[in-house]
Amino acid sequence: MGPVLGIESSCDDTAAAVLDADGNVLAESIAGQEGAHAPYGGVVPEIAARAHLALLPDMVRAVMAHAGVAFTALGGVAGTAGPGLIGGLIVGTGVAKGIALAAGIPYIGVNHLEAHALTARLPGLLEGGAPFPYLLLLVSGGHCQAVVVAGVGRYHRLGGTVDDAAGEAFDKVAKLLGLGWPGGPALERLAAEGDPKRHAFPRPMLGRPGCDFSFSGLKTAVAREASRHGPGGLPRAVAADIAASFQRAVADVLADRAANAMALFTERFPDAARLLVVSGGVAANRAIGVALARAAAAHGFRLAVPPPRLCTDNAVMIAWAAPRNRSTRCSARSLAALVERSTARCFQAGSSLAMLTGGILLAVTYSRRPFPIFRMMLPKRITRGRPRRTRQAGRPLNTASRR
Ligand code: KG4
Ligand code: ZN
Repeated sequence: MGPVLGIESSCDDTAAAVLDADGNVLAESIAGQEGAHAPYGGVVPEIAARAHLALLPDMVRAVMAHAGVAFTALGGVAGTAGPGLIGGLIVGTGVAKGIALAAGIPYIGVNHLEAHALTARLPGLLEGGAPFPYLLLLVSGGHCQAVVVAGVGRYHRLGGTVDDAAGEAFDKVAKLLGLGWPGGPALERLAAEGDPKRHAFPRPMLGRPGCDFSFSGLKTAVAREASRHGPGGLPRAVAADIAASFQRAVADVLADRAANAMALFTERFPDAARLLVVSGGVAANRAIGVALARAAAAHGFRLAVPPPRLCTDNAVMIAWAAPRNRSTRCSARSLAALVERSTARCFQAGSSLAMLTGGILLAVTYSRRPFPIFRMMLPKRITRGRPRRTRQAGRPLNTASRR
């Protein structure tokens, strides 16, 4: 397989990258959309989808030019097919499929979580590589789970969050403290000024067996503490103590859950190398990194945290995961046939729908007494425009009823 173009658009990062057949990065580009979403305190799916649409064509052209690869020379084009925000996924996979059709190359739909899981195997990323199986802790704004990566397409989920993701908790608490969005990095900066022991916030799931996570109770406790100070902004020192105490609680929970995951991993794979890979935006947090390093050392695991640009959403991981997963590949010919078939089906469905709608409209227009269901659906003006007459005096019914 030749070079691969990868496209990521599942949330609020628009990204494109070209990797050669061995996985070396030839070109990459990423554009965050923080400015567009910040006024709303979170990602607005419609804004994200439109931003992907505005950014992707030029970004793809730029990375292809930088990589010096012609579209027809690509071995395939990959797009994040899910999970993610549906508008962004449609835009990204639409662009990827369009390129595949035009250039006559395969299209590959990539699972976003699989891409995160396989990132650690990018050539030259981790010293000594990341041989299968290894343990992955994925902690981002949308996901929080512990997974055994046993091979390509072989993932065993040991546990995950039962409510919020870790990054989501950071974002929500940052919002409570008036830190804006995205909240994680701002909260970490503020926490550096505070006392992590000032508040004994709950550590949900701590000490329980298994590898599930929970953060909503912690978030509620923080909200209660913040509300004790009345309306208006919190004094900076107070907010800093809350931020530091919250961050410590999250770190303790993650370390405890990771410890259970490591114990389970060792039990299932006693002969495997002990490697814990941490990925996702929250992996950039230093206090959490320290807590996880301590837990890893206690269990004899090597801790590996890819650099932030590969930990957070990016297109390098999409292009990297694509040739490794053949099950979602679609050749240009079968893609063209698929498009033809679905277009035909759309026309068929469209014409049946048009006939049905036309029939209904005709029935409503020409019927002297529209069916009750249509009366309910139509605006008053249409259904009641012509007053019905009573048999006796020819007086409008509504006048009679008013008496
Ligand atoms: O992986 P990512 O870029 O996107 C997905 O959610 O998939 O992760 C973003 C999340 C956000 O919730 C953000 O607040 C959090 O990672 N985050 C952090 C830090 N940097 C980013 N959380 C805590 N500390 C940080 N330094
Ligand atoms: Zn992600």
